[in-house]
Amino acid sequence: MPKKVIAIVGPKGGVGKSTISANLAIAIAATGKKTIAVDLDLGGANLHVILGVRSYDYSLDDFVLKHIKTLDKALIETDIPNLKLICGGSKIPDIANMPFQQKLKLIGHISKLDCDVVILDLSAGSAYNVVDFMFIAQIGLLVTTPEVTSLMKAYGFIKTAIFRLLTFHFKETYADQFTELIDKAKDVDANPHLNTIEKFLKEAEKIDEKAVESARNKIARFTPSFIINMVQSARDVSTGMVIQNLVKQYTNLNAKVMITLPADEAVKRALFKTKPAILSEPMSPFSVAIKELAYKCMSAVVQ
Ligand SMILES: Nc1ncnc2c1ncn2[C@@H]1O[C@H](COP(=O)(O)OP(=O)(O)OP(=O)(O)O)[C@@H](O)[C@H]1O
Ligand SMILES: [Mg+2]
Repeated sequence: MPKKVIAIVGPKGGVGKSTISANLAIAIAATGKKTIAVDLDLGGANLHVILGVRSYDYSLDDFVLKHIKTLDKALIETDIPNLKLICGGSKIPDIANMPFQQKLKLIGHISKLDCDVVILDLSAGSAYNVVDFMFIAQIGLLVTTPEVTSLMKAYGFIKTAIFRLLTFHFKETYADQFTELIDKAKDVDANPHLNTIEKFLKEAEKIDEKAVESARNKIARFTPSFIINMVQSARDVSTGMVIQNLVKQYTNLNAKVMITLPADEAVKRALFKTKPAILSEPMSPFSVAIKELAYKCMSAVVQ
């Protein structure tokens, strides 16, 4: 059983999820922890490219298509001590469209991987299947850039995650009534009176007060952290506060910014050298910040 699962998500494409996953995995492996990076971006699998892995025998395709019985058969050794990789596939449906049973099986096998840390690089989007990996992870890191479009999508992701959590929570009691209310709350334009999670919960209390009380406890335990990537100015840094306030105002969650990562040409140069920035330019601002992120992840208290 891995001691820590870290899920890297980000609803917008190209915000740096795979770059961060690869460099963070190397930084954690360098501390002596047995680390496995798993490329769950099945449509656009590229973690192996960033890590400089040229060839491999098996990928997630082979696991899902049952060419191999267990996920650990798809483990690939890398040149980096303590770091192994599981490549994403291209022949199977993306995680977003993966059937429920298949996803459960995959989660089961991920949790059985023999290592200290697993890093999951997920595909862009806010599909429930992606959101679910945030819930199985001890550390969920939501990547955004300082751009407004990316921040809004990140906020939308948090809301989707809360509705997912509530849908599961209310499955046992008054499911139909709660589902109807959740669907209403999702349509903010038609139902502005339900535009915050608190307003939703107040309305839900009319259905079942006790169930809502325990839902509140579950929501309070959901603690996603943000990574603000490709930061260029002091103004960009302050967008961390913007997203924190937005989340607080509408969901009452105390989300925190785990780290801000600078926009750094070393990351671009690394792609051409097919050697991740943390190895090719370990003293670059991005690499130094990734090491700090690794330290924070390893010292974070597991929920
Ligand atoms: N801090 C940074 N500084 C400079 N360039 C960066 C930084 N982070 C990522 N990039 C660049 O941004 C591009 C997108 O990065 P990446 O592929 O990691 O994003 P992604 O979120 O995984 O994308 P996708 O949603 O397509 O999977 C790459 O060219 C990468 O080199
Ligand atoms: Mg990616």
